[in-house]
Amino acid sequence: MENQTITIDPSELSSRDSYRLLISVVIPRPIAWVSTLGVDGTLNLAPYSFFNAVSGDPPTVIFSVGQREGQPKDTLRNIQETGEFVVNLPDRLLAETMVKTAGEWNYDVDEFEVAGLETTPSIGVKPPRVATAPIAMEAKSIQIIPIDGSPNTLILGRIVRFHIQEGLFLPKGTVDAKAFNPVARLGSADYATLGEILTILRPQV
Ligand SMILES: Cc1cc2nc3c(=O)[nH]c(=O)nc-3n(C[C@H](O)[C@H](O)[C@H](O)COP(=O)(O)O)c2cc1C
Repeated sequence: MENQTITIDPSELSSRDSYRLLISVVIPRPIAWVSTLGVDGTLNLAPYSFFNAVSGDPPTVIFSVGQREGQPKDTLRNIQETGEFVVNLPDRLLAETMVKTAGEWNYDVDEFEVAGLETTPSIGVKPPRVATAPIAMEAKSIQIIPIDGSPNTLILGRIVRFHIQEGLFLPKGTVDAKAFNPVARLGSADYATLGEILTILRPQV
């Protein structure tokens, strides 16, 4: 019997439904919990799950910022102004606190304060990192790219420092996934932690 398939033309969906469908399909998504500073010293922190790593050497990440009422969100505004940010990576323990920082607050609201989070100074960039984040990556933006036909803007960032909590870093120079226990975003208001970890070697050609 033929497999039954539901086929959807996204151009027939409202923006909201298209977004809701996409974020329920591309899962799980890592979460960049981005701290930035405005030129006036305003501190900002917000989560972004349209996020990934795109180059190993030099280490480079990308994330995508939407708009709020037709204006750039605070994170994009600060990066446009300063070119600097920190990608903090939340673990299971920080999941609820991370979501608290996603409120659509005014520019002058410091989400570190709202969520009761401590800062730790960075080394290579001005924005501080989240003190309790198990991993943080200091970054400088290298390209800010508007997406054709979309309100979103891509930010490509070069990592200038990794900060990894002791106990997560393995002698072979990588992070222990289980000990890290990252939280990832699914669709709706759903999140996930790591399930089974599979080790699968590639063919040696
Ligand atoms: C887990 C999570 C992931 C999110 N991912 C994105 C994203 O990839 N892009 C985006 O524009 N907004 C995303 N948001 C919403 C922003 O965090 C929210 O609009 C926030 O207020 C933006 O803050 P800012 O204006 O301080 O930058 C996400 C929210 C949550 C809770």
